[in-house]
Amino acid sequence: MSAKPIFVTQPFLPELEEFLPYLERIWKSKVLTNCGPMHKELEEKLCEYLGVEYISLFANGTLALVTALQSLRITGEVITTPYSFVATAHSLLWNGIKPVFADINSETLNLDPERIEAAITPHTTAIMPVHCYGNSCNVEEIQRIADNYNLRVIYDAAHAFGVRDLGGSVLRHGDLSVLSFHATKVFNTFEGGAIVCPDAKTKQRIDHLKNFGFVNETTVVAPGINGKMSEVNAAFGLLQLEHIDEVILRRKNIDALYRKGLAGVKGVQCLSIGNQVQINYSYFPILVDETCSLSRDDLYKKLKDNEIHGRRYFYPLISDFPMYRGLKSAQSGNLPNATIAAQQVICLPIYPSLTDEDVARVINCIRN
Ligand SMILES: Cc1ncc(COP(=O)(O)O)c(C=O)c1O
Repeated sequence: MSAKPIFVTQPFLPELEEFLPYLERIWKSKVLTNCGPMHKELEEKLCEYLGVEYISLFANGTLALVTALQSLRITGEVITTPYSFVATAHSLLWNGIKPVFADINSETLNLDPERIEAAITPHTTAIMPVHCYGNSCNVEEIQRIADNYNLRVIYDAAHAFGVRDLGGSVLRHGDLSVLSFHATKVFNTFEGGAIVCPDAKTKQRIDHLKNFGFVNETTVVAPGINGKMSEVNAAFGLLQLEHIDEVILRRKNIDALYRKGLAGVKGVQCLSIGNQVQINYSYFPILVDETCSLSRDDLYKKLKDNEIHGRRYFYPLISDFPMYRGLKSAQSGNLPNATIAAQQVICLPIYPSLTDEDVARVINCIRN
């Protein structure tokens, strides 16, 4: 009999019965979308949970990224990381902005501030860093550069739900932070996303932009998109929030099991955790270097042959996709650390319903 498949992730789904009262509320109100009561309630509860002032919900994280750039009227060139999900850079192309890739730090896998500074040109208007795997970027240094050169900072915080540093939520840094609530994320609304912003005026502009640019029944102030989150998605978010602490705690336990079980395996390194006071254990990346008895791809295949489906995330680099690879900044000589990381990484399965036995199976497969 073949082994039970273990996938890299599986969404957390509360009992179906728990969702029914939420659906009944929607059926009663007959409000399905257009920023209804569930939408409003989820915005309020998320502000409270995350410890942020203003949030605007979206149908997904990609539309939120595209709209975040629109809301600050970003043009020209934006410095970003090649070591991310492709939506980070796609959001720039959708706005007619030229992405300029800068290399990452080999320890944190986040944008290296020194490389950001070196990539600035007279056309640079903003920086779009990613808190990769939920590990906070070097936010102080990035802000110092932004202030020196009068640049905006939009964080792709798709992985950073609930992450806190000493001063509070990491989502408070920069001009805006963008979350994804995709099914694969720590907190999901099936599909969904959000922009975290610092003031009511910015939120109002973002709210207009996600609703075609409508300000009232007859006034349209911008060529906005339809980026609104539906009531069903918002309702699911409210239910997820009831369980989020237990979800993160289980992820924390799995993270600890992996770190213990993989300690001392030659050539396999777990990514170290940054200086956050609260993390979300959204991913469990390992880096497989040349001292390991198997190459990264051979280990990936061995896991697969044993029905353990890790993911080479992020591989290939964004800068290697056809719509980016012609850019000067996309050349691998400009991105040595990102190139190595993309060749070494495997994200191991991590999700609340993964059992201790499943984790042991993954560890044994790697150790042997
Ligand atoms: C770093 C990053 N940015 C952006 C996105 C896009 O978010 P969404 O899938 O919600 O559009 C994702 C995930 O899917 C992501 O991991």
